[in-house]
Amino acid sequence: MSDTTAGVALVSGGSRGLGQTLVTRLLAEGWQVATFSRTAGDFVEQTLKAEPDRFFWTEADLLRPETVRAAGKAAIDRFGRIDLLVNNAGVLEQGLFVTMPPRRAEDLVTANLTSPVVLAQVAARSMVASGGGQIINISSVNAVRGYRGVAAYSAAKAGLDGLTHSLARELGPAGIRVNTVVPGFFDSDMTEGVGPEYRERIQRRTPLGRLGDRAEVADAVLFLASPRAGFVTGQRLVIDGGITC
Ligand SMILES: NC(=O)c1ccc[n+]([C@@H]2O[C@H](COP(=O)([O-])OP(=O)(O)OC[C@H]3O[C@@H](n4cnc5c(N)ncnc54)[C@H](OP(=O)(O)O)[C@@H]3O)[C@@H](O)[C@H]2O)c1
Repeated sequence: MSDTTAGVALVSGGSRGLGQTLVTRLLAEGWQVATFSRTAGDFVEQTLKAEPDRFFWTEADLLRPETVRAAGKAAIDRFGRIDLLVNNAGVLEQGLFVTMPPRRAEDLVTANLTSPVVLAQVAARSMVASGGGQIINISSVNAVRGYRGVAAYSAAKAGLDGLTHSLARELGPAGIRVNTVVPGFFDSDMTEGVGPEYRERIQRRTPLGRLGDRAEVADAVLFLASPRAGFVTGQRLVIDGGITC
């Protein structure tokens, strides 16, 4: 399907945070939307009732890539194909690298890199079969600038960039665009634990002097998903108030 009309979107982690905003905005723009997370929660329950024909949720855990593959296939079973994949779900756990339990470091790579790669393959196969589509990977400023206490998370997010660049080349001839959105810090459950001092420091170092809003990150995703970005592929769009400039 061309990207001039809304189609089928798969957004990982659509129950809360940026994923919830993306699900809401994509539904409003006429997409059929599939998502997964570990738990459903109020937003998913309400949206299933409000949009029974255009919204689908299933349970999957990024720490178990086989469940993520199954979720991608369930979305295809439900809606017939995937036209847009947003690899949104992520897991952040801060901790000094040398003292972090090795299993935890491995888990961060599984959740933030292995599972998105698995999902991209399920989606890409569907897109090749249907004649085109788009993949948008959600990275982090941690992959651009190093920060203390997030080494494994940053490594995994930087890996998504490599995925974007190589897939853009490999899948471009099949009419599939692949891009990365790199958010700076924005308010969500993920950043709930950020103390006032750290928040103050982020704001001070950000040229625009504030944290981002998830609607601003969603705007970038929706731009890349739109025909306005029809000639954009293999790119990294940084939405961070300038903190990495
Ligand atoms: N917030 C920031 O400041 C910030 C900055 C840069 C980049 N990012 C990136 O932006 C994306 C969205 O972040 P966010 O702040 O919106 O996150 P969030 O509020 O923590 O929401 C994460 C979503 O992913 C799901 N999820 C979490 N762990 C999961 C797991 N193990 N398996 C399956 N689903 C899981 C959550 O649902 P369940 O918990 O029910 O599973 C939820 O739907 C992430 O990739 C994050 O790394 C965020």
